[in-house]
Amino acid sequence: MGGSGDDERPGASAQEADGKDLFRLGTQRDDVELRRYEYPWPEPGTRAEKRARRHVLYWWALTVVSGITAAVVYLAWPWQYVPPGGGGHTWYVLYTPVLGLSIGVALVSFAFGFIVLVKRFFPEEQAVQQRHDAEHSPAEDRATLAATAAEAANASGLRRRSVFTRAAGLGVGALGTGLGVTILGGVVHNPWDTTGLNESAKDTLWRTGWKPVAGETVYLRADSGDPHEVILVRPEDLGAPGIMSVVPFRESERDNPEMLSKARHRADNPATLLRLPPRTEVAPKAGREGMNVGDFYAYSRVCTHLGCPVTMYEGRTDRLFCPCHQSMFDLREHAKPIFGPATRALPQLPIDLDESGYFVATGDFTAPIGPSFWELEP
Ligand code: FES
Repeated sequence: MGGSGDDERPGASAQEADGKDLFRLGTQRDDVELRRYEYPWPEPGTRAEKRARRHVLYWWALTVVSGITAAVVYLAWPWQYVPPGGGGHTWYVLYTPVLGLSIGVALVSFAFGFIVLVKRFFPEEQAVQQRHDAEHSPAEDRATLAATAAEAANASGLRRRSVFTRAAGLGVGALGTGLGVTILGGVVHNPWDTTGLNESAKDTLWRTGWKPVAGETVYLRADSGDPHEVILVRPEDLGAPGIMSVVPFRESERDNPEMLSKARHRADNPATLLRLPPRTEVAPKAGREGMNVGDFYAYSRVCTHLGCPVTMYEGRTDRLFCPCHQSMFDLREHAKPIFGPATRALPQLPIDLDESGYFVATGDFTAPIGPSFWELEP
């Protein structure tokens, strides 16, 4: 067994000696010859050993600091959206990088500490093994494997140097706190809470351009392709079955090319006005009463799978199709997905007619636009 034949470390216990016997037995059975097996610190307590120990502990101290930092940042940093130009925008922008950085440093420093521990405190070993393991029972395998691990821990001084175990435990605890608090984030932070957000931030994140503001009427404007053309829509403009792409329009924007263009290009604005064939039976749905005008319904044009425009309508079956991954939405069930990867219905836009007979939106979409995430109802 070469260098492993005798326990060279001072102070090895009888129990450790038993473990070493088992370790030797395991190597013999596997036909492993240990040519070199040297303890890095045969004399514990030397200055060099203490320096090496501090090296490990510095890394794990960094783990503790950055793990706790991650938890504090997650809990206390101003994380709510602030639009560019608003007070606190820079803090908001820094939130994710600082959180990511502190978690990253915690993970990397823990790993580095472990690498330094293995390199500086585990025995240096040179072994030769024959090509195939010898046959032995699973019980023997388990016993010799445990003995090998225990021998490595003994040899590295992990057992005797309880400061390592305590520091590693602290590091794991801090790292776990940092990661745990972000995993349980939904319990800690409510992303739907708009308290404290200014109007502009609310508008950007939680509302679309259909949201009526200051009581101004929002019309359905046909999307003709010209960003500045204003064509308002009346029921007679659409045959049955029919489909039309619409965007929001306000009279205050009529002579404002920039706003007209913006309304058309805002990503969550596009909606589809549909005219279902006469006598189509749409299943009643709680809360959706009065959101349609006869056979006319409006839904978001943005697919709830990955956000492609849902542009294809089959009037015979009353279904909308998304051309990207073939999701299919049943208009007889308020655009519920019935095929494909989309899991959530297209949000409905409540509509009505004004006194002149033009379509208007009476509110914003019934749900957030676009791809689903776990907090949204199907
Ligand atoms: S984006 Fe519509 S199905 Fe994938």
